[in-house]
Amino acid sequence: MRHIFQSGKETSNSTPTLLLLHGTGGNEYDLLSLAEKIDPEANVLSVRGNVLENGMLRFFRRLAEGIFDEEDLVFRTKELFDFLGEAAEKYQFDRENIIAVGYSNGANIAASLLFHYKNALKAAILHHPMVPRRGIALPDLSGVPVFIGAGANDPICPPEESTDLATLLEKAGALVELHWENHGHQLTYSEITAASKWYNRGTVPNNS
Ligand code: MLT
Repeated sequence: MRHIFQSGKETSNSTPTLLLLHGTGGNEYDLLSLAEKIDPEANVLSVRGNVLENGMLRFFRRLAEGIFDEEDLVFRTKELFDFLGEAAEKYQFDRENIIAVGYSNGANIAASLLFHYKNALKAAILHHPMVPRRGIALPDLSGVPVFIGAGANDPICPPEESTDLATLLEKAGALVELHWENHGHQLTYSEITAASKWYNRGTVPNNS
């Protein structure tokens, strides 16, 4: 998959890697400034979605807004999961210490990694995600910290998508913090700050 990799300032075996996943119509450059705000010492792996929808990059196909092509979602989730293993070998970072930071469609594929694979991610920051798939059994996510940033007036991800996602992840054992903004689908500075505070108060073990 096309991507950018930036080594952390002081790489050791325990250095976390922030996996950046852009929204629909974005690219691998979009979220680089978020990584800087969340953890300027971390490695950064920013991936470009492999699907094109009317010229807009995405991580998986959809049939309509908010209606996902489940077969493609499963296929693309595996593709990303496999890519993480390959990238960890190539760049020599700790595969067990990947923290996803996704926005919108990127948050949805990050949630899909959590829904389909037990040890895919050490933690996740999901900005405006939806429930990627319903009616499946989730793997054991005991102790996996997840930050969900949601907009109370988000027309693309209605509030119940955020609360349902939080409930499903919590039932699988994840430690979820659901943060609300009084806005729509946009990613605001205050939401980014809340995610950064969550990460930096030690919610994610061994990130310092
Ligand atoms: C999706 O398709 O993943 C969601 O509707 C969010 C988006 O518009 O990307």
